[in-house]
Amino acid sequence: MAVREILTLGHPELRRVAEPLDPEALTSDAWQRFIDDLVATMRHANGAGLAATQVGVQARIVALEVGDNPRYPYKPRIPLTLAVNPVLTPLGQATFENVEGCLSVPGLRGRVTRHRRVHVAWLDRHGTSHEAEVEGLTAGTWQHECDHLDGTLFVDRVTDPHTLTTWENYHRFHEAAFLEGLGDLARQPNED
Ligand code: NI
Repeated sequence: MAVREILTLGHPELRRVAEPLDPEALTSDAWQRFIDDLVATMRHANGAGLAATQVGVQARIVALEVGDNPRYPYKPRIPLTLAVNPVLTPLGQATFENVEGCLSVPGLRGRVTRHRRVHVAWLDRHGTSHEAEVEGLTAGTWQHECDHLDGTLFVDRVTDPHTLTTWENYHRFHEAAFLEGLGDLARQPNED
């Protein structure tokens, strides 16, 4: 298991549309080792998710996990999920305002509009099909990670560049209003 280099904004590999992975190939040692690396890299960087494209591998694979994450303490927990060929479908018209960051965009956060509820379908690392309906910040995390597989970064979806902020200034000037705006979408004290 190895921690891989995470590519950053401006690297051309982040802008490609990744190919679906052949489920038959998934069980190979090479892909299983890659999946272990993807999870290790996400955890090492305290990411809420990481897409294969962010480490320069053009395959439709994302990892998601939220525990006690120092980067995102308000995010509801997500058990470790490894999603191969994920398909995301918005449910309804409702949206919410998220403030996102990205391991490939070091130091920056910005406000993005996301679908409030989405349906997701994917294969796990063994090729077994799963589906789920997710909402709020968890739906936002899925949308952010699936965007990576199409070469899209959160900065592309920031409609008001005035909302861009360093992490330090996010904490100083914007966090309180953001968390208040999230209301019951944020992790509640009784979830801990
Ligand atoms: Ni990202």
